[in-house]
Amino acid sequence: MTIVEVLKLSADYLQKHGSDSSRLDAEVLLAHALKLRRLDLYLKFDHPMSESELGAYRALVARRAKGEPVAYLVGHKEFMGLDFEVTPDVLVPNPDTEVLVQRAVEIARESSGPVRVADVGTGSGCIAIAIAHYAKNTEIWASDISREALEVAGRNASRHRVSDRVHLERGDLMQPLAGDFDLVCANLPYVDVAAGSSLPAEVVAQPARALYAEGGGAALVARLLDEAPSHLKPGARVLAELDASVLSRAAESAVRNFSGHRVLRDVGGRERVLEAWSFIPTNSEPRP
Ligand SMILES: C[S@@+](CC[C@H](N)C(=O)[O-])C[C@H]1O[C@@H](n2cnc3c(N)ncnc32)[C@H](O)[C@@H]1O
Repeated sequence: MTIVEVLKLSADYLQKHGSDSSRLDAEVLLAHALKLRRLDLYLKFDHPMSESELGAYRALVARRAKGEPVAYLVGHKEFMGLDFEVTPDVLVPNPDTEVLVQRAVEIARESSGPVRVADVGTGSGCIAIAIAHYAKNTEIWASDISREALEVAGRNASRHRVSDRVHLERGDLMQPLAGDFDLVCANLPYVDVAAGSSLPAEVVAQPARALYAEGGGAALVARLLDEAPSHLKPGARVLAELDASVLSRAAESAVRNFSGHRVLRDVGGRERVLEAWSFIPTNSEPRP
């Protein structure tokens, strides 16, 4: 069979097994199996595949059909135009998170001086590293409770040559991060623990401690918004990823602890990031 025939069959198969990006999944897995770039597949559509190539590819497609995320199968994922190592110890970087990073970079670039940033629940390090890459005036302190995730984040920081500006600490929320911050970013777990059984297989395949939170999913985001003010410089901002189901609980914490907040939407138009700004001792409030 040729590459184009194999792609057609495997994309149909993956679609029947619940993938909503079946053609893309088939191409990414085939490029990985053949050690090609995905675009190179198009130049080789008529090439016949050997039995051993087909065997390796079939095994990947079978695992994908059972719900393993493509990023775990190929070991990496693109986020904000950068390639990140991904293992089953970390959440797969999600394009929905890019709106948070874009806003963080915008805030950092508005500043004429150095910007101290915290990234709480860093996972693969994708938020911290992308901010460091795109805003050279930032220095970032990132925390996670998972030792394994921090090892992945450390390798990603080296891969993108920002280890000198991305410091990784293990512990709960901001507790291991010393000093005060201009900007706090967080993509903490916000899936209701009770929702576990109704989630797609590729979501459930990711680490439970990266997905679920108590309090209907809102507990960690709300606790961060309660605890962050004692770690902020005057006029600092917090950017917290969430979804609509936890927004009202998070907004209650923001009203209690900050002078203002607003909600940013992701590329799909969904409410995705709560931006809150802290009280400053003068009369001039920062404006969004
Ligand atoms: C949703 S994942 C996000 C990972 C990464 N920031 C991203 O956007 O892809 C949440 C991360 O928070 C970490 N985490 C969970 N509870 C935490 C806590 N109490 N303190 C610090 N990190 C925590 C998890 O280990 C996981 O790596």
